Formats: sequence, C-alpha cells, structure tokens
Amino acid sequence: MKKSVLITGGAGFIGSNLAIKLKKKYSGYEIIVFDNLKRRGSELNLPRLKKHEIVFLHGDIRCKEDFEQIGPVNSIIDASAEPSVLTGIEKDAEYLINTNLYGTINCLYFAQRHKADFIFLSTSRVYPIKLLNNVAFVETDNRFKYIEAQIIKGVSENGVSEKFPLEGSRSLYGATKLAAEILIKEYNELLNIKAVINRCGVIAGPWQMGKVDQGFVALWVAKHFWKQPLSYIGYGGLGKQVRDILHIDDLFKLIDYQLHNMNQINGDTFNIGGGLETSVSLKEMTKLCEEITGNKIKIDNIPQTRIADLRIYYSDNTKAKEVMNWQPTFSSDKIITDTFNWIKENEISLKNIFN
Ligand SMILES: NC(=O)c1ccc[n+]([C@@H]2O[C@H](COP(=O)([O-])OP(=O)(O)OC[C@H]3O[C@@H](n4cnc5c(N)ncnc54)[C@H](O)[C@@H]3O)[C@@H](O)[C@H]2O)c1
Repeated sequence: MKKSVLITGGAGFIGSNLAIKLKKKYSGYEIIVFDNLKRRGSELNLPRLKKHEIVFLHGDIRCKEDFEQIGPVNSIIDASAEPSVLTGIEKDAEYLINTNLYGTINCLYFAQRHKADFIFLSTSRVYPIKLLNNVAFVETDNRFKYIEAQIIKGVSENGVSEKFPLEGSRSLYGATKLAAEILIKEYNELLNIKAVINRCGVIAGPWQMGKVDQGFVALWVAKHFWKQPLSYIGYGGLGKQVRDILHIDDLFKLIDYQLHNMNQINGDTFNIGGGLETSVSLKEMTKLCEEITGNKIKIDNIPQTRIADLRIYYSDNTKAKEVMNWQPTFSSDKIITDTFNWIKENEISLKNIFN
C-alpha cells in the first residue's frame, strides 16, 4: 500500500536518516520532511533529501498555521525537538518548552485531523536524575557499571527498563518529553490516534552534527579527527561515565517495523538503546577513537559533576525484543568507524559545523 509519511524535524540527524532510508526501501511512499532548520548543520541535509526526492517543507512546529501547507498523511514520525539536556539550565528554557511541549501538541492536532499514526521519539531522560544516580554500581578501571542486586525497581545489570520509577526531577528537556508522552497517551486512548513511544538512549552515526551538549559520539570522533582537545567532566573527571549507543540503522529497523505494525504496538512505550553490549565509557570511547582515527588528543580532567549529568545510563531492551523481535546489531566499534568515514568524506563542509 502507498503511504504518506510526515517526519517533523526531518532535516535533523535522526529525521533525515529515517527519511532517506524509508524512501530507499519504499520508493512509492511519499516522504515529507517538515523542519525549521534551527539546528546548526541541518541545512547540510537538504541536498541529500532532495536527491532522494523527499519533499522538504520549511515550517515550525510551534506555529499551528505552518501545518496548513501539509496535505493528509497516514503516519507521523515526530523527530523535531530541542534535544539538549543543558537547555533551560545554561540557556533560556522558552524555546525548549515551546518546541518540545507546545510544538508536539500541534503535531498531535495534525495527527488527529488526518487520523494519522504517531511515532514519538522520546528519551531516556524522562527517568529522574537523582534516582538514576542512586542505582547501585561498581567502578572498574575503565568504567562505572550497574550491579545485579538492586533495591530500586526496573533496573538490573542489564540496564534500565520501562518499569523504572518516574518520580523526581529529570531536566527541563526530560520533563517536556514526559509531558508530551502524557498528552500522546490521551490522544491515543481518548481520541483513538494510534501511537507508540520510544524512550531512546544515545543514537549515533553519520550525519549527526554533534556538539558539547548533544551528540557526544560524533563530537568525540570529530575532535580526534581534527586533533582538538576534549575534557572528561564530572564524576572525578576520569571519563568513566557510561552510555549505551545505538546505530541510526538499528533505529531505522525499529521505526520501519513500527510504521508497518502499528496495530500490534499501539499504545505501547519502549526503552530503546544499544544496551549493555553497546555501552561505552568516555575513556573507552577515547581508546576506540584513537584506534580508528589514528590520532591522540589532549583530554583535560574536570572533577566537578555538572548539574543533570548521569553516572551511567544504558537501556534494558528486553521488552522491545519480546514484543517486536528487535535488538541492536551494530557494535560501538562499527558506529565510530561509520561516523569517522562520514567526517572524512565530508571534511570540508563539516569543518565549520564541528569547529
Ligand atoms: N540523537 C539522540 O541521541 C537522541 C536520543 C534520544 C531522543 N532523541 C530524540 O530524537 C529526536 C531527533 O533528535 P536528533 O538527534 O535528530 O536531533 P537534531 O537536533 O539533529 O534534529 C532535530 C531537528 O528538529 C528541528 N527543529 C527544532 N526545533 C524545531 C521546531 N520548532 N520546528 C520544526 N523543526 C524544529 C531542528 O532544526 C533539527 O533539524 C528528538 O526528538 C530527540 O529528543 C534523540
């Protein structure tokens, strides 16, 4: 069946990759990208989208009238956001709240008007900071690691599951995403909009315009590539903080499945990430970057922990595997290699973005 899919934030890292991969796999689908190009570097994706005959509409999800230019669609993938955890703490909160919360509400109005299915890219940041930092862990030479025996529910050696408690502060970024999730649930149950929520850990790979406050994998690779200094910030400044990283192609497999199996997963929420196997500490990232780029850089140690930082986060993907038979397939080595090759091939255009 021919489908029409709207991707809000579709000129961004996740949106543009999903748009192109969908068009390559389903050439008959109409893929519409809607983006205000707020993120620096998103403009570099426009020629890629054009090359694949993807419709680009310049618009802002904060502005309901901007949606008037879009025709009826079958599905919406909401990938538009201000995705920085530090926004609202180090920078003004208004844009974040207006986009991530009110903007998502406009996306829901649009979904309701066209009875379109709704796939939401939420975040692991909906889980509260203090509680995550109270999870029992051990410290090894290279990383922090969750242990098996835990008092807090929803977490084990295998990571954080959907059963992890939600009470507590989570950053304004996490709060706007959770607030949006709550509204999505209402549109889902009361207004019959089919919807699924994916609470993603770190997604990485080519076309991520990484910066200090978002997209650390691309940033780490870029700094090694251009031989510029970095810092291990917080938790003693040892670089032992851990995150799971998921290749954008693994995320595509998940979204492809959800787009075509909405009746099965309607109303559900999943933790989605690389999991324990594809988790890395900053120290381990540095080693991989040194091996892959062949460059060694200076890394400062700043012991003080920044507000809203987490010692460890990796997703427990058990539910996604049980329900959708989905699991990550790319190693951290491959994710970093793909990111490195992309930077190398696009060195000139990316130089201004990363430097
Ligand atoms: N990348 C990750 O590691 C990660 C992890 C968890 C969740 N997410 C979520 O996935 C989604 C996509 O993230 P990303 O990494 O591609 O970020 P990104 O910044 O690369 O892409 C977001 C896009 O949204 C656009 N945008 C921002 N404000 C807008 C507005 N008001 N109207 C229209 N467009 C707007 C930006 O210009 C950008 O192109 C976000 O919702 C983010 O919260 C990402």
